[in-house]
Amino acid sequence: MVSSMIHCAKHPSGYAELVIDRPQARNALCVALTDAMAQTLERLREDSETRVVLLRSEGDHFAAGADIREMLDMSAETARATDFAGCCVALGDFPKPVIGLVQGYALGGGCELVEMCDIVLAAENAVFSHPEISLGTMPGAGGTQRLPRLIGTAKAMDMLLSGHRMDAIEAERCGLVSRIVPPDRLLEEGREYASGLAALSGTVLNSIKKAVRASMEMPLKEGLKLERALFHQTLGLPDRQEGMRAFTERRKPLFNAT
Ligand code: CAA
Repeated sequence: MVSSMIHCAKHPSGYAELVIDRPQARNALCVALTDAMAQTLERLREDSETRVVLLRSEGDHFAAGADIREMLDMSAETARATDFAGCCVALGDFPKPVIGLVQGYALGGGCELVEMCDIVLAAENAVFSHPEISLGTMPGAGGTQRLPRLIGTAKAMDMLLSGHRMDAIEAERCGLVSRIVPPDRLLEEGREYASGLAALSGTVLNSIKKAVRASMEMPLKEGLKLERALFHQTLGLPDRQEGMRAFTERRKPLFNAT
């Protein structure tokens, strides 16, 4: 454990549960917390037993954003020197699928964490917002870049310029959220989802993530080329042979056996 504000538990089925645990401050993302999160993600990146990460928070709210008290006197020099928002690089570039579970508020930097997840399960009471404008600042961990790519410019501008709060239904409708679940089912559904993904081929999950992420950055022709190359790679994988052989033998495939 690298900090009492971040916990990480590995599940035998192949996923790791990464937990933000600072509910008394509404899981505000202070530097110690984001540093610990970045370190944990670096470890999980290299951990061959972890194929999927389930990111969640303790308490009633996912995360109330950057720690405003900590930022109060922060200068641009300090922010640059301390690599403020560094965990966002670790999460944004994480190569394995990340499932985010969101209950209550996901604000500012909290919403940016959500924007970096690959699958987002939201409780019916989830609220997403970028209130930075009301603090006289703006997103600094990808909000102005990822959000419009996820939900389109009109919706992103609405959130970023006005601080509009989006409920779970609106967030699902516009593509920020994958599925909505009742609050008391969120953790169970998240764990089931993570176990299900972790039973699939880790190598292929990562290739699919890489290709989909590339679609946000690459022109179509280049993205199609990348997809083709990754698809061809799967043909040489033991997991691909196992998947297709299991189909013909009418049994469940056993992936990740190598
Ligand atoms: N930073 C630091 N402390 C925070 C915090 C934050 N972002 N959000 C909540 N807290 C603290 C409060 O100061 C309070 O601490 P004390 O008990 O010591 O006074 C405690 O958490 C509980 O907060 P509230 O009493 O306000 O709790 P609430 O349940 O009534 O309201 C809330 C919850 C709606 C999330 C409200 O706390 C809130 O609006 N928080 C600020 C949200 C915000 O503006 N986030 C954007 C930050 S900027 C950013 O993220 C991007 C960037 O890089 C600039």
